[in-house]
Amino acid sequence: MKKKKAFITGITGQDGSWLADFLLEKGYEVHGMVRRSSSFNTQRIDHIYQDSHVHGVRMFLHFGDLSDSSGLFKLLHQIKPDEIYNLGAQSHVRVSFDQPEYTGEVTGIGTLKLLEAMRSACPKAKFYQASSSELYGGLDCPKKGYNEKSPFYPRSPYGVAKLYSFWAAKNYREAYGLHISNGILFNHESERRGETFVTRKITRALGRIKLGLQKELYLGNLDAQRDWGDAKEFVRGMWLMLQQKKADDYVIATGETYSVKDFLKVAFDCAKLDWKKYVKFDARYLRPTEVDYLKGDSTKARRVLGWRNETSFEQLVHRMVAHDMEMAVKEKKRDA
Ligand code: NAP
Ligand code: GDD
Repeated sequence: MKKKKAFITGITGQDGSWLADFLLEKGYEVHGMVRRSSSFNTQRIDHIYQDSHVHGVRMFLHFGDLSDSSGLFKLLHQIKPDEIYNLGAQSHVRVSFDQPEYTGEVTGIGTLKLLEAMRSACPKAKFYQASSSELYGGLDCPKKGYNEKSPFYPRSPYGVAKLYSFWAAKNYREAYGLHISNGILFNHESERRGETFVTRKITRALGRIKLGLQKELYLGNLDAQRDWGDAKEFVRGMWLMLQQKKADDYVIATGETYSVKDFLKVAFDCAKLDWKKYVKFDARYLRPTEVDYLKGDSTKARRVLGWRNETSFEQLVHRMVAHDMEMAVKEKKRDA
């Protein structure tokens, strides 16, 4: 049987790297778009080349950018993928307040550019749009959590840009009959999470504090609550959406919510340290408008896709702490 081809924007990010692992394991040929950078930005996918003696090289990287529509057209005409995963974005909520226009261009209009390229080059492909729980936040959360029918009310330029992408994806599905699905994913973390997102910022700092490489950790709002899941499990949800006959929109979430303080407690307990002695407040990490509480209701994804999450909040925190303790040990050896 002919190998399926997948095209991933954002392959160098947390989700893109897990998704590449997942699709290669399933026998796909994976094409990833990477941004040209003055230093290496492929650390999260380098292991795929190192393991290529196992699968053979079935991952191909192409330079490109979501702001460059002619490049997107060229790539999709050349690759003709069966599945497209649009994970590329300026994905940091706090940064989107500093760079609202850029975030709108990449996280919003970038999706439109990719949809237009798909419509021209490979209209039979299936398209996954990385939508976000940041579409919600400004209205009271229903008791069971936000679901696909909950009204949107974004609270940041990032959320506003994702709202544009959500509707662009839905409109292209309805207007042109294309197979396009929105995954409304709640926060998901892992040892590959970017180090400026709160969970990884905490576990990286904890490792360094434990080994005496860092004294304090500066954070913003500790009362914010998030529905935190395991990124490795969430990418399976993306793939499942594209295996359905009919495209649709799905919430992917654990249905459990914890505060930043809860995360700190579980993480610092692993290292037998009291977080209150190390964590300091810095107003720079506050947002002009905050999403205080997020909980997702993924009943539809569980029923239609058969998607499940298995990793508990504690297991996820422990895994990230264990990984970052090892990183700190290596750092200490390097500095010695
Ligand atoms: P991430 O780690 O920040 O990765 C973002 C990816 O987008 C990176 O590969 C980045 O490339 C790429 N990118 C940035 N600007 C780009 C541009 N102009 N053109 C093309 N690519 C660009 O994000 P993530 O956590 O993996 O999230 C993946 C997607 O899901 C994002 O769209 C995010 O907004 C969305 N999402 C994430 C979560 C979550 O909790 N993780 C929840 C809901 C939705 P570089 O490596 O070169 O920077
Ligand atoms: N980043 C960060 N840094 N967040 C902090 C800090 C800090 O020092 N201190 C407190 N927080 C709080 C933030 O105010 C927010 O309420 C919460 O921790 C989580 O922040 P992030 O980890 O930056 O994630 P996010 O929820 O804003 O956004 C992530 O999840 C979205 C899905 O809900 C990103 O991955 C988005 O791309 C994604 O769409």
